[in-house]
Amino acid sequence: MSKRVLVGYATNLGSSVKVAEKIAEVLRERGFEADVRSLKESAAIRGYDAAVLGSAINGGVWLPETLAYLQSNRESLSKIPVAVFSVHGMALGDSEKETTRRLSYLDKVRQVIDPVAEGFFAGKMQEMNWLQAQAFKFFGGTVVEGDGRDYEKIAAWAKELEI
Ligand SMILES: Cc1cc2nc3c(=O)[nH]c(=O)nc-3n(C[C@H](O)[C@H](O)[C@H](O)COP(=O)(O)O)c2cc1C
Repeated sequence: MSKRVLVGYATNLGSSVKVAEKIAEVLRERGFEADVRSLKESAAIRGYDAAVLGSAINGGVWLPETLAYLQSNRESLSKIPVAVFSVHGMALGDSEKETTRRLSYLDKVRQVIDPVAEGFFAGKMQEMNWLQAQAFKFFGGTVVEGDGRDYEKIAAWAKELEI
């Protein structure tokens, strides 16, 4: 029987949904049974052999509903492999500073679960005025322009997942 995987996502403005769908598509190609569900709607863990959970980053952290979700499903999640992905728009560069910053987006997540893999993917920037764009560039390091979703990178990550 094929393994069942929950691909759960949290989004603020919608761009993380397609990231989750791409991951599920690749997992299905690999022979998994993958369901894409919103974490805000409290996707049930029961019956799944593994989970791939992700969130958009706002203010340097996963969206608020995700932490409540992780807390209330902590025990079930400790019994299956859980990989995580983050969809974000800043700190996308390879410098030590940006890498450290990006990794810190998961500090609170790692306090609750112990992910088997962590993926970081560029998302989609919303329309910003010039001043907002300058502020993002000043504070954010390497910032995505427009729609930065790289489906090949996302697929490559999903292909290698050991879950
Ligand atoms: C209010 C707000 C705060 C954000 N904060 C961050 C941040 O701290 N770090 C980052 O890398 N990206 C940040 N972003 C960029 C988003 O993570 C990015 O646009 C992502 O694609 C949003 O995903 P969503 O469309 O699924 O909500 C922020 C975007 C918004 C609108």
